[in-house]
Amino acid sequence: MALFRGREVAILGSGSYVPSKILSNDDLSHMVDTSDEWIVERTGIRERHIAAPGELTTDLAEKASIMALKDAGIRPEELDMIIVATNTPDTLFPGVGPKLQGRLNAQNAGAFDLQSGCTSCIYALTVAATGIASGIWNNVLVIGAEVLSRIIDWEDRNTCVLFGDGAGAVVLGGSNGSNGRLISAELRSDGTKSDFITLPGGLIENPASEETLREGLHYVQMKGNEVFKFVNRVLPDFLKHMCQEAGLTPKIIDWWIFHQANLRIIEGITKRLRVPSEKAVINLDRYGNTSAASTLIALHEARYDGRIKKEEKVILTSFGAGMTFGAVLYQA
Ligand code: COA
Repeated sequence: MALFRGREVAILGSGSYVPSKILSNDDLSHMVDTSDEWIVERTGIRERHIAAPGELTTDLAEKASIMALKDAGIRPEELDMIIVATNTPDTLFPGVGPKLQGRLNAQNAGAFDLQSGCTSCIYALTVAATGIASGIWNNVLVIGAEVLSRIIDWEDRNTCVLFGDGAGAVVLGGSNGSNGRLISAELRSDGTKSDFITLPGGLIENPASEETLREGLHYVQMKGNEVFKFVNRVLPDFLKHMCQEAGLTPKIIDWWIFHQANLRIIEGITKRLRVPSEKAVINLDRYGNTSAASTLIALHEARYDGRIKKEEKVILTSFGAGMTFGAVLYQA
């Protein structure tokens, strides 16, 4: 059973930020052999935001965090922990978390990065909620932030059309009984599929060398078709089971916040779950796949524009390199 026990945990506030520069499908068609028609038909993506030269993951995370803290009415010094879900930290160390903690002057908070592919944000939400439910933390800032544009091979049409930069943030804290609660979380991994999405160069297995540069091992490599099949096979049953564990059925869920990777994947899952596609929050047309930021940006937008109403039930779910997958169920 993956139901939260102990103190009830609520989402107190949210925020998001995307860089101002927009890269459209037409722009991409001048860079690689692709077309707006192909990208829209196969993915649903129309444009994505790209960080400016010198703009870092910490910069994006900071802007989303300030918005989330304001929305929550929480001061930085009231934070006990900052967890940054990211696959594109500015540097391997120091992490984005400690840098952000310093910038926010969150003097009473610990801080760390959490990296588990695009599912990092779901892992981070779960760790944060577990710490609050157990009583060791009161307020936790969770951020998903990525500058994927710097690890993409802009000459590889198989990957460069998919990704974008951005950040989403939430503040979690103890529920006051009327501001909702997290109900359950499930985190999974299938490491037998660890070769599906990789960034093989520049670290321990393939230290940076002229050869790794020549072979482009410092860029994302992906077996797109295998990822597509894996997710369509695994996610529907996983999500059905998660609903059952909470005594619910997929039909009862008011909003589905899927990882914004591919519209065809989202449509395939909603079809298998037999839930109307209108219940899926979609923004991948505007942002592409922002990895660990994706579900948190979508959550913020759906809260901000009033789509998610009090007491409605929401599932956030993601999948990514590992292959990891996971979901969090909450009541607004
Ligand atoms: N523009 C035009 N043609 C392209 C292209 C592009 N950007 N990318 C690939 N193609 C071509 C391929 O070369 C192939 O041509 P061929 O038939 O002559 O060999 C054809 O389009 C079909 O390729 P395929 O890979 O089978 O397409 P697809 O329908 O599976 O779509 C993805 C490709 C990547 C969009 C899709 O598999 C996908 O979204 N997978 C999941 C990836 C994902 O979510 N990754 C992140 C996980 S966190």
